[in-house]
Amino acid sequence: MKITIAKSLDDFYKQSAERIASKIIEKPKSIIGLSTGRTTGGIHKALVELYREKPFDTSQVTVFGLDEVTNISRECKASCYWLLLNQVVEPLGIPLSNFIMPDPFAKDLQRECRKFEDRVSNDNASDLQMLGIGENGHIGFNQPGTPFGSTTWISYLDDSLDERLRRENNIAPDVKMGGLTLGIKNIMWSKKIVLVASGKNKADIIEKALFGPVSEDVPASVLQLHPDCEAILDPEAAQQIVKHL
Ligand code: GLP
Repeated sequence: MKITIAKSLDDFYKQSAERIASKIIEKPKSIIGLSTGRTTGGIHKALVELYREKPFDTSQVTVFGLDEVTNISRECKASCYWLLLNQVVEPLGIPLSNFIMPDPFAKDLQRECRKFEDRVSNDNASDLQMLGIGENGHIGFNQPGTPFGSTTWISYLDDSLDERLRRENNIAPDVKMGGLTLGIKNIMWSKKIVLVASGKNKADIIEKALFGPVSEDVPASVLQLHPDCEAILDPEAAQQIVKHL
């Protein structure tokens, strides 16, 4: 795995954004998997800045988010659809028809999973998958213990994310949110993966994921087996791995 340690948080956002922009410039018809969260929010802002400074063709690119919170509407700010629409799709002028997300209210969610993965995995494997990481090592909503052979499925939100989304978005306690996510097998089919992490709260898990044993207990550790994966870290997230380099 290639490891890039940015000089600062701003440099981290910029370098990560450049990976997305370069892929679109190199292959305008790319399929690009994005992810949401605080980390990627900063990256998307930097991407929009890059685009505004030096616009590139976004009319043919397809983008998707690798996961979605089920049972909340797309207008809710906790929805990955809403976040990606506002952070990336609209600012970059990507046609709405090229923005693929699962339906959070689909009657048959299992069927929705299969439909979603057919469009963005399998024969349509992404050219680039951007991945954040949870403090417990999750990627997408694939929490610790998820089999490496998993395909798109309905997982769960870890307690801290569930609590934060409810608090920030006034989601009622009786709304049961699920985490529809590409499985680990789907993620590993991506042609290129960029794992991004910032902040000292990620330092511990980054060391485990990048230098610990490859284990289903740490879902992100599977990325050590991917032939074209880069981890981009800010100095804080990298603080425990410098000793390994
Ligand atoms: C959520 C998302 C993940 C994301 C993770 C990290 O759980 N499902 O795809 O990578 O959060 O979020 P943050 O960057 O806010 O720490």
